[in-house]
Amino acid sequence: MRIAVLRELAPGETRVAATPETVKKFIGLGAEVAVETGAGEQASIADADYAAAGASVASRADVLKGAGIILAIQGPDPQGLSGFADGAWLAAGLNPFGERARVDEYAKLGLEALAMEFMPRITRAQSMDILSSQANLAGYKAVLMAANAYGRAFPMMMTAAGTVSAAKTFIMGVGVAGLQAIATARRLGAQVSATDVRSATKEQILSLGAKPIFVESVAGIEGEGAGGYATEMSDEYKAAQAELVSSHIAKQDIVITTALIPGRPAPRLISDAQLATMRAGSVIVDMAAESGGNVEGSVSGETRRIHGVTVIGAQNIAALMPADTSALFSRNLFNFLSAFWDKEQGRPVLDEEIGNAVRLTQGGKVVNERLLG
Ligand code: NAI
Repeated sequence: MRIAVLRELAPGETRVAATPETVKKFIGLGAEVAVETGAGEQASIADADYAAAGASVASRADVLKGAGIILAIQGPDPQGLSGFADGAWLAAGLNPFGERARVDEYAKLGLEALAMEFMPRITRAQSMDILSSQANLAGYKAVLMAANAYGRAFPMMMTAAGTVSAAKTFIMGVGVAGLQAIATARRLGAQVSATDVRSATKEQILSLGAKPIFVESVAGIEGEGAGGYATEMSDEYKAAQAELVSSHIAKQDIVITTALIPGRPAPRLISDAQLATMRAGSVIVDMAAESGGNVEGSVSGETRRIHGVTVIGAQNIAALMPADTSALFSRNLFNFLSAFWDKEQGRPVLDEEIGNAVRLTQGGKVVNERLLG
């Protein structure tokens, strides 16, 4: 089984889908690994490091020749894909809803496209989950981005010239990214509060030493939510949430928004009118900017000043820490493929639960329920 590792060509993408560590592990399973020239350069991994781990390093056309598995961070342009084995797997973050046309192209090429972001949220798949590994580091970085853009300090500081007060920081959406954002803001000495629609997060917020701010008048989502995901909330809930946010947000210096609903535009959590009540010099990092934004007026990839508030429309934060995020992404891919490795066939064979969840295309057709439904 030949595994091809592609160099990422999307603008701003710095990560790589395999590291020398995972190359060695794949070889240990009996696979052959071919890495595209320069694939790890931006993540500080030289071609020579891959070669030392036992991979061959060559052009895209050469690494794809006869490949049975193609690994990438983002879905590659179908145009440059040829020469791979019949029914080869393409395992990457394929952004299936956002890049739907590409999925059709992968089907036409005869690829079996596996979307790693569709990994089910079950215990045994935790170590395979790219959303959670990447969101963890992104939540950390989002707080640092806010701290950098903020004209004041995060911790309370007592100096001979007087006291500087702690930054009031509000985290909206307490999934993997939000939890790490709470922990990071706390480490920096901020005064932290947080909100979510899933009731299970209340305990988690408290355990990190932050204050939960929850809608109490209308029921939210009980427990973890189906599959750990939030759904679109009722109009009644949205109205109660807007009221709660309005009363809380005017007193906040830093807001990090992380709320996502899979396959739907990000929920709008902060309106322009609410923004206008915030103190000038406050900072918002909208981690959902790429999915339409939690904050009115935020633009993915841009930092804007709205009513005196700096609104950072975060884009691919994980790519700002390519060494660590690549290491985790690569391990997610290895954990996934190795868990299903069939020694006799010398290749992985997926089970139904995980296979049906991640598989987008097979036999020239789009087969995934979430895309067909
Ligand atoms: P996410 O990226 O899907 O969403 C971020 C957060 O925003 C979620 O907590 C969600 O409830 C919240 N949110 C959505 N709409 C909102 C609204 N209108 N207002 C306020 N908050 C809103 O979430 P993420 O980070 O992927 O994690 C969600 C859950 O799934 C967590 O409990 C996590 O532990 C679990 N999980 C489990 C995995 C496994 O067992 N294999 C893997 C990954 C996550």
